[in-house]
Formats: sequence, C-alpha cells, structure tokens
Amino acid sequence: MPSSRRCADPGPAAAGADAAARAEAAARDSLTVVDNRTGLRYELPIVSGTVPTADLRRIRTGPDDFGLMAYDPGLANTAAVRSSITYVDGERGVLRYRGYPIEELAERANYLETAYLVIFGELPGAAELAQWSDAIKRHSMVHTNIQRLIETFRYDAHPMSVFISAVASLATLYPDSRDVADPANRRLQVERMVAKAGTIAAFTYRHNQGWPINYPDDGLDYIGNFLRMMFRMTEVDYAPHPALVRALNVLFLLHADHEQNCSTTVMRAIGSSRADPYSALAGAAAALYGPLHGAANEAVLRMLEGIGRPENVAGFVERVKRGECRLMGFGHRVYKNYDPRCRIIKRIAGEVFEATGTTPLLDVALELERIALDDEYFISRRLYPNVDFYSGLIYRAMRLPASMFTVLFAVPRTCGWVAHWLEMLTDEEQRLVRPRQIYEGAELRHCLPGE
Ligand code: CMC
Repeated sequence: MPSSRRCADPGPAAAGADAAARAEAAARDSLTVVDNRTGLRYELPIVSGTVPTADLRRIRTGPDDFGLMAYDPGLANTAAVRSSITYVDGERGVLRYRGYPIEELAERANYLETAYLVIFGELPGAAELAQWSDAIKRHSMVHTNIQRLIETFRYDAHPMSVFISAVASLATLYPDSRDVADPANRRLQVERMVAKAGTIAAFTYRHNQGWPINYPDDGLDYIGNFLRMMFRMTEVDYAPHPALVRALNVLFLLHADHEQNCSTTVMRAIGSSRADPYSALAGAAAALYGPLHGAANEAVLRMLEGIGRPENVAGFVERVKRGECRLMGFGHRVYKNYDPRCRIIKRIAGEVFEATGTTPLLDVALELERIALDDEYFISRRLYPNVDFYSGLIYRAMRLPASMFTVLFAVPRTCGWVAHWLEMLTDEEQRLVRPRQIYEGAELRHCLPGE
C-alpha cells in the first residue's frame, strides 16, 4: 500500500529520476502474463500481495470474449475484503485480535473487554468499559414474544435451530434496524445483538431442559449473569463457581472472531445487500451450525462417546485413515500448525475439571491426540487439533448436552460477526456480494408445443 509520507520538492532533474525509479518499482510490483491463446502480454498490478481479479478481464481472445475470471471453489485462495480485525498466521499458529496476541488477552482481559476490542478496535478504558457493560446489561432483556417463540418449539428441537429462529425474529421487534446507513442506529443494534445473544442462548437451553427461564440479573457481570441464566435452579443468591467464570471468559474470548470463516463470510454477504443485521446474524449462525464449521464441537463429543475407551482409539484412527469418517476437531483450512486456541483451551480444561471432576472422555481425547500427532497420515496432511477438540469436554464437565455446544460458540462469535458487519458497511470498496459462475448447463433449447 502506498505510504502517506510527505517530501520536500526535489527539483525537476531529481523528479525525473524519481519518476523513473517509481516506474521501475511499479514494474516490480506487477505480474507479467502471456496469454498463449493470443500471444499477448499483460502487466497485472500486485496490490497487497494480491492480483485484483477484475484486471483479469482485460485478458481476452477478442471483442466478444468476456475476459478471464478466477475460479476458486470454497474461496480458498481469494481475499474478498481488507480487514483490520483479526490476524491469523496459519503456518505459525498465530492469532491476534486488533494486534493483541490471543494468549495475552486470555491472561489479562475478559470477554466483554475483548468484545469491545474486536468491535471497536481498542481495548476499553475504565469509562468506556463502564458504558459498554451498562449498555449490554440494559439490552440483555428480550421481548416476551421471543420467550414465547422459544417456548413454541418442541422440547427436543435442536437448540441451534431455536437460536437461529429467535435471532432472526428480533428483526420483527426492531424494524428500525433496517436503517443500516445511520452510525448511531448501527451502534444500537450492535449492543442489542451482543447482549441478546446470551439471553436467547440461555432461554433456549432452559426450554430444552424443561426448566423455567431465568431473567437477566444486573447485579452480576456478563459471564456471571450468563451462567446464572443457564444454571440457577432454586438458589436465592446464585453464585457462579469462579473457575467456571474464568473458563467461560476465556472460552468466549477465544471464540470471539476468526476472520473470514464460513459464517463471517455469510454475515458479510447478507449484510452487503443492506438487509437488517438480525437477518444477517441468523444466516451467519446457520452457517456455523454445520459440522465442518461450528458444530464440530458437538461432533467431537459424539465421536469421543462413540469411541468410548482409550483402547478403542487405534482402531478408530485406522477407520479415519481408510476414509470411512473424519477425525472431528482436527484439521483447519488456515491452520497448518497447532491451533493456538486449542492450546489455551487444553490448559483451562484442567482448571475446570478440578472444580467439576474429570470425565473419562478426556482420556479418550488425549489418546486420540497422541496417536494422531504421531501418525504419518495426519503429519503429512498437517492436521492438528483445532478449537473444537477440547471445548466440548469443558462444556460436558459443566453438564451441558452436546446439542448446546454450537450455541455456546455462536454467543461470543456474535461480536465477531457484528464487527465484520460494521467494517463491511463502512468500507467504500465493498459492494453487493455477487460472485460469478462457470455455466456448464444445456445450450439454448426451446420448449416446443406438444413435447
Ligand atoms: N480427518 C481426517 N482427514 C482429514 C481431516 C480430518 N478431520 N481434515 C482433513 N482431512 C484430510 C482430507 O481427507 C484430505 O485428504 P486427501 O488429501 O487425502 O484427500 C486432506 O486432509 C485435506 O482436507 P480438505 O478437506 O481438503 O481440507 P479443508 O481445508 O477443505 O478442510 C476442514 C478443513 C476443517 C473442513 C477439515 O479439516 C475437517 O473436516 N475437519 C473436521 C471438522 C472440524 O473439526 N471442523 C472445525 C474447524 S475449526 C472451527 C470452525 O471452523 O468452526
């Protein structure tokens, strides 16, 4: 990217030399392509390590040719946005929010501070944090229509389906949210989304369990209140276990954002049509629900339960290598190294198990990791444990059903989704998301009468 440095006027001769040097430098920041179909040669600019694919359209065989496009299934090597939110270096296993290493945030910040950082770009000062916490508390109550909606679902409805429906329904209560051009209005919707995601998740869980809901309690901090809404039974003064508060703070902040993943891409794509943010959020949550993305944590637990005992692990790994199933919680599109979030989660799992008691599935998971990390199949494909491998064990230690795990991913990821929604709306380069295709269907044919 060009620097904004200013220089004194160097005079005409120096300016000519400068221009030549600049031209030479510019020539180096380019890609020379020869189209073997025509013999024509093109200079394509290299900008921030990318080739703007719109420039490929210049490469044509003739006036009727549409021009070249890029073909990239799964968008595995396509940068569609510029972002300042999250930095991931998958080769080295590095994750930073707004420049801060995830390990430092896990030590020194809580989830709500991290959410503020992810959304607004800086860690909050004392006054900003007080204002932010207050806003989140104020917006944590949900309209009784949402409560009634949740109660209409069958007791065994998957909590993610209930969560997605309830989030989408928020748009019916806040028609003002369609005014996405107004910054103050956007801020209000952001506060509502971050605050209400936790309440909807907790109401969903209580309904799933057949227990009466707990309304939000302003006397507790964000995580304490969330745990209370989830777990309070008959206690008058519910006090969450400090180890669980700490663990959930860390788990939530580790899940806060992960740059252009599948669900964030959906959030941006829906938002690019200027739909209201609740509809976009519901779409993002729906994308998270897939087992290759956020529902992997649920799939890991079901896999560990299926394996049952450490002595069954070797046989299971052989089935994975024969392609009969996947080792859930392993592998990542970007990380070709140990997922840094997994390392932290593994450490806090120990703290949680001290408070709750351990689970026999932990031994299965440890054996699975040990065997897989030593096996040529996983080594050659650079498959390492990801964020979902151990998080489910912590949630299980909290006595949560596996079907709730992805909801507990969606709650903190809401702050990442809204951060990207804001960034997308204020980025003048962004346009309606509308990719191209390679049409491979029938040539023109006609519907003839009588056929
Ligand atoms: N178990 C066994 N083999 C695997 C696995 C796995 N978990 N992941 C990838 N492979 C193999 C795959 O079969 C392929 O082998 P080959 O080259 O012989 O055909 C090779 O590794 C490359 O796999 P890929 O599917 O092309 O890689 P991808 O980047 O498209 O997939 C992934 C990434 C996350 C979808 C995949 O690793 C996977 O399915 N993992 C299990 C599900 C999971 O844990 N998902 C959570 C991801 S992290 C959190 C999140 O995104 O929400």
